Amino acid sequence: MRLFLIITVMTMTVFASASQAQEFDASATYSEFCAACHGFDGSGMSAEIPDFTGDQNRLGKDENILTKIIMEGVEEADGTVLMPAFGGADPFSTEQSRELIQYLRENFGS
Ligand code: HEC
Repeated sequence: MRLFLIITVMTMTVFASASQAQEFDASATYSEFCAACHGFDGSGMSAEIPDFTGDQNRLGKDENILTKIIMEGVEEADGTVLMPAFGGADPFSTEQSRELIQYLRENFGS
């Protein structure tokens, strides 16, 4: 009986983490929403796009600053959108934005 319980709990844990991974996949999210501008290798598709892999330690900034950029986007004074806002639940939350930063740091950070 006890063994049965342990196995049940273990199985539930595996399923719980599997479904969590399905909920938010930083790599897939990056490919879908970010790679068009930032490139699949993180180096940026044009001169105006920051190079995450460069030596300026772009991803070394405070996490709150990077999160704000992702959630609120970047707009010039004249209203030109340099980077769209991704905030709110659509398409992702602040927590997920932090996971994205983690992903960027692990994959592109210099
Ligand atoms: C339409 C193009 C575009 C898309 C799509 C885009 N970005 Fe950006 N991103 C930019 C530009 C341009 C900047 C630089 C803005 C500036 O000059 O301050 C930037 C800046 C950033 C920065 C700050 C870098 C720094 O050094 O300050 C981060 C972090 C970032 N983007 C992450 C993301 C993530 C994560 C996504 C996807 C969810 C994304 N971006 C989608 C264009 C884009």
